[in-house]
Amino acid sequence: MRKDLRQPVPDTQSHTVESVLAIAKHPIHPMLVTFPIAFLSMVVVTDILYLWLGAPFWAELSFWFNVGGLGFGVLAGIVGTIDMMSIRVVRRHVSAWNHFIVAVMVLAMAALGVWLRLPGHTEAVWPWGLLSSATMAVLVGVAGWLGGTLSFRHGVGVYGDEETEADSGRDAVEKPPAE
Ligand code: HEM
Repeated sequence: MRKDLRQPVPDTQSHTVESVLAIAKHPIHPMLVTFPIAFLSMVVVTDILYLWLGAPFWAELSFWFNVGGLGFGVLAGIVGTIDMMSIRVVRRHVSAWNHFIVAVMVLAMAALGVWLRLPGHTEAVWPWGLLSSATMAVLVGVAGWLGGTLSFRHGVGVYGDEETEADSGRDAVEKPPAE
């Protein structure tokens, strides 16, 4: 007879819960976030390279990384928000709200960066472009870390445990409150 190797889930941790927006159960939000993370954290690097080397190419690259990061970030944010708003147990996690707040700050910084750089890609780098891109890189790290907490600690977006998924907390299958 096969031994059941699953450990009981402690009260301090939630069960795993599938994402609502997924392709064959693979969540779409983590597929998209790689783009804003890469693009937005590179803006500070290309800003520094522009200030160091003086070639306008790096300031142009900063601008386009900023634009691409904002576009993909908004897309990822929409998908993440739909997941968060449609799964009850996700909304119960403090780290979900922290992740949401910091992610919105990231998107606001990305929008600010595009706005600052629009009139002149090279002129905008010093000092405000660099200040905003450095702040944004830190915020991207914090948002990504908190997103990781949701996935790897709380099992959000994870599938495979049929027993716990039966009570996944998806609003669509929410049980009526007990009398
Ligand atoms: C703006 C609203 C956002 C909301 C409501 C949100 C919500 C979520 C949720 C519910 C998860 C758990 C996995 C899932 O269900 O797909 C998650 C994971 C994650 N999020 Fe977000 N997110 C947002 C924006 C962002 C942005 C802009 C970034 C990146 C800069 C980001 C980075 C991550 C990362 C790295 C994970 C972990 C993914 C993994 O499993 O590797 N999120 N987020």
